[in-house]
Formats: sequence, structure tokens, C-alpha cells
Amino acid sequence: MKIGIDFGTSYSAAAALVDGDVRTIRFGEERQFRTTVYFPEAVPDPSQFELTDALEAEVEAQVRNARTQQTRAINEAQARREHAARLPAEQREAALAMIPTPAQRSEQDLRRDAVRAVRRQWLELQVREARASAASLQNAVYGEEAVEAYLSEGFGNLVQSPKSMLGYQLAPHVRQTIVGIAGYILEHIRLTAGQQLGANVRRAVLGRPVQFRSSLGAAGGDQALEIMTEAAASAGFDEVSFLEEPVAAALGYHAQSADRHRTLVVDIGGGTTDITLAEVGGPQAPVVLGSWGIARGGVDVDLSLSLSRFMPLFGKGATRVPAHHYVEAATVHDVVRQREFQRRDSYREVDAPFGPRLISLQQAGNTTRLSRAVESTKIQLSTQGDSRATLDYIERDLALASTADDLARAADPFLGNLAELLHEVGAEITAELGEAPAAVFLTGGMSRAPYVRETVRQCFPNARQVAGDASLGVVSGLAFAAAREV
Ligand SMILES: Nc1ncnc2c1ncn2[C@@H]1O[C@H](COP(=O)(O)OP(=O)(O)OP(=O)(O)O)[C@@H](O)[C@H]1O
Ligand SMILES: [Mg+2]
Repeated sequence: MKIGIDFGTSYSAAAALVDGDVRTIRFGEERQFRTTVYFPEAVPDPSQFELTDALEAEVEAQVRNARTQQTRAINEAQARREHAARLPAEQREAALAMIPTPAQRSEQDLRRDAVRAVRRQWLELQVREARASAASLQNAVYGEEAVEAYLSEGFGNLVQSPKSMLGYQLAPHVRQTIVGIAGYILEHIRLTAGQQLGANVRRAVLGRPVQFRSSLGAAGGDQALEIMTEAAASAGFDEVSFLEEPVAAALGYHAQSADRHRTLVVDIGGGTTDITLAEVGGPQAPVVLGSWGIARGGVDVDLSLSLSRFMPLFGKGATRVPAHHYVEAATVHDVVRQREFQRRDSYREVDAPFGPRLISLQQAGNTTRLSRAVESTKIQLSTQGDSRATLDYIERDLALASTADDLARAADPFLGNLAELLHEVGAEITAELGEAPAAVFLTGGMSRAPYVRETVRQCFPNARQVAGDASLGVVSGLAFAAAREV
């Protein structure tokens, strides 16, 4: 059986066509899950070494052993010296020169070396155990539960939005890790879908953005597709193909449109904004006329809101802490930047309250908590005039009140990018593609935000706005595509 998979920056979903109807796969109670995975294995941390009773006994045994060896070596050297003293004078000197002088080390030195050796053995064991359990898929937790597990355990690895990393320059071992993580997620989807569909799932159509988030230009997109293809193979898929996400959404919209018309599909997600112009509806097959995209989405609004509203609580703009430290702290999907932020040790010198707050922010889970608070603030301010975030995990009674104006300022750069893209699309349609769209079909999580809809309305004032299912628009279309490719 062939399924459609929407591997999203923020949320992932899967669906298949069963007897002509779209059947979305459930993940727990939901039809999508946060694209996040938690591996409970703690990465071995040498600073956690503690001399338990068992390890103390091991140290004592090693000290005893070293002491015995030392005494034996001293006694042996003494015996050899006595033997040499009895030799004829001409042989004595050469014999004495052959006798080593054994080190006579203090009890303190013997103990220090024993502790070092025991600590090294302990660390090697931790590494072996972590490797053995990391090989087991059963320990991974996905979606919202992954975040909860990570926050309650306070150790292990949480990987959020791996799609955001696919198009970036990656060191070979980081690339390998990302292939592995994407593979785990795809395998989770494949097995869950197989169970619910009662079939062996080995083929899929994967959605892809028109433009991946990338630091490598077009090569970043190629790398992203290579990584996803490798990940799918490791997840047990025999065959995968890719379809642009807005084209998929157009197929889904086509299936629910009785009348033929020209529509602009606008999919505004977490990481990217993707657009397709298509003729849809009625008995004829849909016709795709063009696709456009930018690597901008909801996470850019989150980052902007975090830097403008939340990070000043940690001294941004008021201390000498370099601005990029705040970007590192706010970029939770970037494992390398997160590690850099967590390892910085200069915040003890930053004045209160900012220094202690930054040190709190470095504690396991707190950048994740903060990014959740930022996203909730953004979502609440879509429908409310104000919102209050509680940050008591940073400092007792710390809270931040924000207003719709704060969000408007933070969202402004993104809305500017969106309007620019829509104007380019509009100009290209007028110049080359003729008729203007009669409808604009909106999907993607960010299309729930009224300010986003308003921006689209202003750019295409004469088109009827159709609110599609914000979460399932793309995956429904991918299910049709999968059925077509059988
Ligand atoms: N009511 C809302 N108001 C504002 N933003 C929202 C709302 N609901 C969800 N979002 C945002 O929508 C984004 C997620 O959208 P979606 O699930 O379509 O993304 P995705 O498919 O995972 O990402 P992409 O397609 O870019 O890879 C997140 O940034 C989320 O915060
Ligand atoms: Mg999407």
C-alpha cells in the first residue's frame, strides 16, 4: 500500500486513499504529531561520575593491588642490590646499573591514580550502554509526548523540527545523525500507518517544500532530498517519490471542488510558505500552472517575537552579551547552536538579574520551555488582545505580558516577505499566465492567523478566500497523489 506523508517542520501527518476516501492516520488521539523525537539515553556526562560504595571498593582494591606491586618491586630491587654487592668488584658496577629504582609513591598518589582508572572504566561503560540502547527504536518517544518526556526526565536528547536542518552545511557525523532521526520518524509513521490500514506499507509520496530552508542555495534542496531518500530507505520504504506540498494541497482541493476554476493554493507552514496556481474542480484532471515558495514561516515569527519580547528579560540590549547568544538560545531546532549556548560559561560575570536568568536558561529543557511559551504567545495573540507567559522555571514569579501590537511588530518582517512573494506571483500571473485566480485556498498552521489571511486578502482582493483544513490540506492531497501513482 502506498501512503502520503507530510513531513512538516512543525507537524507531520500521513494519509492514504481507502475506497476513494482519504483516511488520515491517527497518532494517539490526533491526526498529526509534532515533528519531534526524544531519545531517553543520556549522553554520557563525565561530570556525573560519583564514587558509589561499589566504585569506592573498586578504588580500594586497585590501591591495594598497586601497593602490593610497589612493595614487591622495592623488595625485588633490594634483593638484587644485595646480590650485586656480593659479586666481584669488576662485575658489581654493571650489575648495579641494571637494577631499576622502583618509584615509591605516596598513598595519596596511589589513590588518585586508582580513582582516575575507575572513572575511565565507568565512562567507557556508560558509552557502551548508551550505544546499545540507542540502537533500539522502542526507546524513542515522538510528538508532544517527546517534549513532555524530555522536560520531566531532564536528560537525554530532544530533536525538534529536523526538517529545518536538511538544507544546511552539515558535518558528516551531524548529517548521519539527521538521516538517522528522520529515519526514526518515517519508520514510526510507516509502522503506525501499517497497523491502522491493516497492510504492509512500503511505498510513499513525501511532500516537499518548493524551497527548502537552506544555507547552500539550490544545492541545499538537493541535499535535503538525498537525506530524506536515505532516511526513507532506512525506515523500510522500498520506494518513495516527492511532490511539492502546495501541488498536493491543490489535488486535495480539486477533489472537493464541484466547479472548474482557477485557484491559488497558499500553504503557510512552520518553516516555509509555498504557493501553487492550478486549474481545479469538476470532472477534468487538475492542471498545475506554476509553483513558488520562500523559506519563511511560523518559526520566523516565533524567533522575531522571542528576540524582541522575551530575550530582553535575559539582558538582550541591556548587557554586553553578544546578540548571537540570544539567537542560539532561541533556535531550538539547531542542535549545534543549542549545545554552544549550553556550554557558554561567561554568564556568571553578567549582572543580576540577567546573568542568573541566562544561567537558568542554560539548564536542560529551559530553552524548549521558553520556545513553547513564545509559540503559545503568538497563537494566543492571533485571537486575543493580550497574553501572559509564566517563566517561573527561570526565576520565581517571573512573567511576561505581551499585546497584539507586540506580535504585530514581530510578525511584520514575515508579513512583508509574504506580501512580496504574493505580489511577485500576481505580477507573473498577469504577465504570463493570463486569468487571475477566482479563489485563494489557504492551508498550513499559520493560515489560522487573521493577520496572515488579511495580508493574502490585500494582495488578491478579488479572489474568494477558501479556508482549507489548516493541518490536513497537504496530507490529504498526498493521499490522492499516492493513489494515482499506484
Ligand atoms: N492559531 C494560530 N495562529 C498562529 N499560528 C499558528 C496557529 N496555529 C498554528 N500556528 C503555527 O503554524 C505553524 C505550523 O504550521 P504547519 O503545521 O502547517 O507547519 P508544517 O507543515 O509543520 O511546516 P512546513 O510545511 O513549513 O514544513 C507553527 O509555526 C504554529 O505555531
Ligand atoms: Mg506543511
